[in-house]
Amino acid sequence: KTHIILDVDTGIDDALAILYALLSPDIHVEGLTTGFGNIDVGQATENTLRLIKLANCGYEVPVAAGAAGPLKREYAGPVPHIHGHNGIGDAEIPPSEQQPVKESAAEFIVRKAYELPGELVVVTVGRMTNLALALTLDPAIASKIKKVVVMGGTVFAPGNVTPVSEANLWGDPEAAAQVFRSEVPLTIVGLDVTLKVRLSRSHLDQLRRLAPAQKQPIVDFLHVALERYFDFYLESNQYLGECPMHDPLAVLVAVNPSLVTTRELHADIDCGQGHTAGMIITDRRVNPKVGREITFCLDVEEDRALRQMLSVFLQP
Ligand code: BDR
Ligand code: CA
Repeated sequence: KTHIILDVDTGIDDALAILYALLSPDIHVEGLTTGFGNIDVGQATENTLRLIKLANCGYEVPVAAGAAGPLKREYAGPVPHIHGHNGIGDAEIPPSEQQPVKESAAEFIVRKAYELPGELVVVTVGRMTNLALALTLDPAIASKIKKVVVMGGTVFAPGNVTPVSEANLWGDPEAAAQVFRSEVPLTIVGLDVTLKVRLSRSHLDQLRRLAPAQKQPIVDFLHVALERYFDFYLESNQYLGECPMHDPLAVLVAVNPSLVTTRELHADIDCGQGHTAGMIITDRRVNPKVGREITFCLDVEEDRALRQMLSVFLQP
């Protein structure tokens, strides 16, 4: 099994990524770390605890709460028009008795990197703040972590906050830059691929028909939460009854890299103020001088990725 820490800002697609990771037979979730982004860190943590209960995956999954804001900037605030007022599309799921651990998200990441040297995969699907803080606490973890897989950024597709910047990198450019400039092996699952993997209303109907009875509460949740996401993507991207699986795709790629075609490119993050804040600068010159080599996912087998994601909800 792949040992994963999944770092989330639990919005709608984060919820799907969490459920997928918890239910996948190929993954052991070492912990879920939470941060600000789609919603404030308090609500992200609450959503995450509730989703663990909903998933009922059969093992204990610690939750460590993390950053409430970016390293050097102001938190721009939640995005209810995308993720609803509670971050999960205003879907109501029962509260959990589980409490977060006492360690911060950054402390948790450092401890696990030492407990699982060469084995730990960190998947970030929110701002990269917690991982940056962990690297500041102990830079040596860069050589202990097996790899970091990031949902964030874009190389060729348009941005989704500015014309060139994607939300997770735009939301804390300095944190992203710190990770890009570290030595940790880094794979970027950005908008170039996540916009291609889209879940539709008919997929949800399939789940309704084919998922076993014990998974139907999860299917109920998905129906409510994703309705909000479909509305947003109709408005913003003119997708008809479809929404991109940004965050789940990062988890899928972390475990199954054959789903994507990648290219190694030298890259860095722009930490300016205007349109380019959080932009990935790739140096595609013959003799690149900016940044270091990073693995970028540029194409994806979208049908296989979607089938793989949906399969965990169909298992008994
Ligand atoms: C990313 O931004 C958030 O709204 C989503 O959860 C995803 O992580 C997509 O740009
Ligand atoms: Ca997210």
